[in-house]
Formats: sequence, C-alpha cells, structure tokens
Amino acid sequence: FESPDGEPFKQRLLVVANRLPVSAIRRGEESWSLEISAGGLVSALLGVKEFEARWIGWAGVNVPDEAGQKALTKALAEKRCIPVFLDEELVHQYYNGYCNNILWPLFHYLGLPQEDRLATTRSFQSQFAAYKKANQMFASVVNEHYEEGDVVWCHDYHLMFLPQCLKEYDSKMKVGWFLHTPFPSSEIHRTLPSRSELLRAVLAADLVGFHTYDYARHFVSACTRILGLEGTPEGVEDHGRLTRVAAFPIGIDSDRFIRALELPQVQEHIRELKERFSERKVMLGVDRLDMIKGIPQKLLAFEKFLEENAYWRDKVVLLQIAVPTRTDVAEYQKLTSQVHEIVGRINGRFGSLSAVPIHHLDRSLDFHALCALYAVTDVALVTSLRDGMNLVSYEFVACQDSKKGVLILSEFAGAAQSLGAGALLVNPWNITEVASSIGQALNMRADEREKRHDHNFYHVTTHTAQEWAETFVSELNDTVVEAQQRIRE
Ligand code: G6P
Repeated sequence: FESPDGEPFKQRLLVVANRLPVSAIRRGEESWSLEISAGGLVSALLGVKEFEARWIGWAGVNVPDEAGQKALTKALAEKRCIPVFLDEELVHQYYNGYCNNILWPLFHYLGLPQEDRLATTRSFQSQFAAYKKANQMFASVVNEHYEEGDVVWCHDYHLMFLPQCLKEYDSKMKVGWFLHTPFPSSEIHRTLPSRSELLRAVLAADLVGFHTYDYARHFVSACTRILGLEGTPEGVEDHGRLTRVAAFPIGIDSDRFIRALELPQVQEHIRELKERFSERKVMLGVDRLDMIKGIPQKLLAFEKFLEENAYWRDKVVLLQIAVPTRTDVAEYQKLTSQVHEIVGRINGRFGSLSAVPIHHLDRSLDFHALCALYAVTDVALVTSLRDGMNLVSYEFVACQDSKKGVLILSEFAGAAQSLGAGALLVNPWNITEVASSIGQALNMRADEREKRHDHNFYHVTTHTAQEWAETFVSELNDTVVEAQQRIRE
C-alpha cells in the first residue's frame, strides 16, 4: 500500500495501557519533563516499524488544573502519547483498589482480600464502579482519536472493560486485548463477584491474547463454565459471534541488551563489579517489590543454603534489587518491612565485619548498571510465586553470552514454558528444593552451563518483542477480515 504522497502506507495502531510509556515530572505551572520508561511493551513497540503507533494512557500524576493538563498534553503529543487524566480519588479506587488490591492478587492465585470476600462490602462495589468509570474514560479518549481503519490494542487487567466500551462506540472498531498477567484457573476466577461482567466485557474484543496456552485455556474454560458459552479451538462463541483467543508469548528487544554490553561505560561497570566481588560467586535477584515475586521465600531459601553449606558462606553473595512499586497499597508496605527483617536477620547471622551475604537495594538501577550486573552474575534467581511471563529471566540470558551463568526459574512464571529446558526449574514454595538448586547451580560444570545457556539464548534472541507485537497485530487484522467473510457467507 502507498499513501497519496508515495510513502508506504502504515496502519495506525492505538495502544491503550493504564500507564503511558513515559513518566511525567512537573517542573512549573505549565512545564513538564518527560522520561521514556524502558519496559517490555515500550521496547516492543518502538521496534515495530510496520505501524504508526500512538499510545493512550494515564500519565501517573495527578494534574487537577486545566493549564497543567493542556501543557502536559502538548508535551506528550511530541512523543505520540495521549494522556487520560484521572483524579486522585479515582486513582485510589480504580488503580490502588480494584486493580492492585483485587484483580492483581486474584490473577496471581493469592485470593481476594479478606474484607472483600463477602462481596457485600461497600468498598468492593465502589471500587468496581470506579474501575468501570476509569475504563469509560479511557474509551472516550480512544474514541476522540480513533480513525476508521485504526487497530486498537488494549492492554492488561486494568482495562478489561475497555473492549466492550469501545465496541459500544463503534462495533466495526478492530479491538484486541492482551493480558500481561496469568489468567487463573476458572475455579479462582469464579470467586470474583464481578466475574461474569468482566468476562463479557473482554469477549467484546475481536482477539484476546495471553502469554501462555494455559492462561488462554483457563480463560476459555471460565467463559464456558461461568457464562455457559461454547469454547472452540479458535476461541469462544456466543450466538455465532467468535472471539478469537490465543497465546502470544512476549519477548524482549535482545539486541538492545547485547549492544549495551559493548558500551565503554557498561564495560567499566563490569570491571568494577568483577573487582568488587572477585572472591565470591554472584547471585542476582531483580524484582519489583511485589508479593507475587516471592522475595521472602527466595531469601529463606538462600538462608537455608547458607545454613547447610558452611563452605559457601564467605564465597557467595546475593545481590537483590527490589524496585519499590504501588507503595500506596497496604500489602506492599507490609512486604517491604518483612523483606527488610529477613535480610537483616540473614546478614546478622552470616555476615562478618568485612562482608555481608546479601546486598539488598530498595530502588531501580539504570539500564547500563543493570546490564553490567546481569553480565557478571553466576546464578540468577527468579522465584516468582506466579508471574505472567517474567522478562528479567530473558534479560539475564541476553547478557550472559560470555559468562553462561545459570538461571534458577520458578515453574510458576510464564517464562518456564520457554526457558524451562535451559533453566533449573523450581517450586518457589519449596524452600528446600530452591536451596538445593542454589547448590546445584553454583557447582554446575561449565559444559552443562554452556548447553543450558545456548538453548535459552537462542530462544531469547529469536522470539523478540518486535516479533510478538507484529504477530498479535497481524493476527488481529486477519481475525477481523475472517469475521467479515463469515458474516457475508
Ligand atoms: C506489571 C503489569 C503492568 C504494570 C507493571 C508495573 O508488569 O502487568 O501492566 O505496568 O506491572 O506496575 P505499575 O502498577 O507500576 O504500573
């Protein structure tokens, strides 16, 4: 296709996610500075050249005044981003409440919060109402910017209502929805008081995507068991209308990591780290400080390993980077204290005046420091209790082509399906098993490490984020064409 001015035609892609790919910092009444965040989704879409992508989402800040909103909208437009403004109370009810206190733990098999179990509490109902209202607000911004032929790609558990709201505006809109978390077994999903409304809202999309076949299968069985609809190999059918459901495992922009390792500043970091830890094997954990990441369980397993392996006590160090997240939610605050307490105890028990077994950081690292850390690591520990995919495991593998370190990976992370053959898979709840895998990893022979690494490196460098995004969008285009043909027939 060509546009009238001879340029190759690019389909417009409206990406709708709760969070914009930039964080906004207010510098003055009408002045903002923007920082691009380098999450998986952002790098996936930056690499996609086939589409002209625009991003619609919440800027992560409260902007109550019109002048500020106007200035921020203008600044964001230069980055092809369109803001949705949510006030503080709505953020509290929708984001902290329904999204992060109800859906997030439930989808990761941690159940509903106790006080909401009766489903009669006012907080549950008002949070659900706020969730729907926020989704409506996203929909109306999409609608304002939508042009015929655009593809609208909605992301994650924050926006399960969005497909339905969008189809109510225009039933011909091409709408895809992708979930970045696990979708739990239907037995878990059916405990949610708003279980049916949410499923129906998602089914309004043309294509629904998940990271793994298991999540897709759970979604289809929730629709059959809870809504009584028919599940087919293609998806879910409701009175002749098919919603396609499929697995699209995400990847990373592996080249970005591999190229970064060549940069002089990264090489310098690597030299410093090697010197600093020359006497020790380095183990690494990089997680958002979230209960699903299993950080306390990981620390307990490391403690058990040190207890049982006196030989290793002064020969290994665990660097745990715990990035603070959702700090307004009480559960996350409790977790921070719990983690600090365990780290303090282990360092007290096994540390000396000159060294401690755990270096724990409550902050994120910049991209270059992170790449260097990945590169010098001997053993990475990814022990999520549940995780949609877990891209830290991919990033570690991408940075390990010279070291060929070992990845210990939770069998409950989506990544276990793709990196399982190269990693040491563990049940993160089984502290004894994780402790013994630490020993196995530290003692693994070089030829076995190499074989395992090569397997995973091949996967990570061939199943990239760009390929993921292109596959989803082209499948969405095909799905809509097929649906139109079926209607004509
Ligand atoms: C997970 C979710 C994302 C979310 C990210 C960070 O990966 O799937 O949608 O953006 O966590 O969480 P936050 O609440 O800070 O956006």
